[in-house]
Amino acid sequence: MSYLLSRVIVFFLLILSASAALSADVVHKKMTPNYDDKASLQRGLAIYSNYCSGCHQIKYVRYSRIADDLSIPKSLFEENLLPKYARMGDQITSTMTKADAKAWFGVIPPDLSLEAGRRSPDWVYRYLQSFYQDSSRPYGVNNALSPDSMMPNVLEHLQGERVLSCQGITKPSGNKYSALTNSSYSKCDIVDGVKKGQLTDQEFKQVAYDVANFLAYASDPSRSDRESLGLKVLLFLSVFVFVTYLLKKEFWRDIA
Ligand code: HEC
Repeated sequence: MSYLLSRVIVFFLLILSASAALSADVVHKKMTPNYDDKASLQRGLAIYSNYCSGCHQIKYVRYSRIADDLSIPKSLFEENLLPKYARMGDQITSTMTKADAKAWFGVIPPDLSLEAGRRSPDWVYRYLQSFYQDSSRPYGVNNALSPDSMMPNVLEHLQGERVLSCQGITKPSGNKYSALTNSSYSKCDIVDGVKKGQLTDQEFKQVAYDVANFLAYASDPSRSDRESLGLKVLLFLSVFVFVTYLLKKEFWRDIA
């Protein structure tokens, strides 16, 4: 009887682990930032400077801080990454005026210094991969994660065109996928469109990861220092507690 029971348990465990593996594959893998991966942060900074800084700002961080934290020599930074109008000690702002932004996008592109903290790094990572063609929108694209977002898909030439493919849903007239409710989105998938991008899927995922990782760092630049200092403090305290214990034993030896 117990043999039969153990067989049944093993069988269920097998099914459970198989379905977990399957769902891990199907369901999106969560992005976890790595503040110590300087190569990734440097790539993220390069992408941010080339593709995002025209519209967005990260004004709670300064150029010099980033150069220090990401181990980029100041002269190299000044030559390649510092805009002509800025100095190393400046906060990272955008040259786009609020009035222009309102006229062009209807909204002011948000400051991204705290974005990864406010949403989450994983949200930013998925947002950059959730654009799809939608001719009813002003810039011809929509975003499944943030429906009717006014941001153009600035990385489209890297990723390629993406389209929404929905099962069991009749396509609304005029390509108005944006009219779908959020629950309908779960039945939809974003798939490759006709126009290919310069990067493979995997390479583009890496680009999205690096920018999200960089923005996670920008939202909390001293996190890495804090964590390594925290470890040292805990180590010191544990040694100190041990020494104090020995001292206490020594003091009480004659009394107790
Ligand atoms: C051409 C201008 C433009 C560029 C370039 C641009 N964005 Fe945006 N972005 C916008 C606008 C406008 C919004 C506001 C969308 C809205 O609220 O409808 C936005 C919104 C966002 C948001 C979502 C904010 C939220 O919480 O809803 C994120 C994240 C973001 N951008 C990241 C990026 C990153 C990363 C890059 C560079 C790869 C980038 N953006 C480049 C215009 C731009």
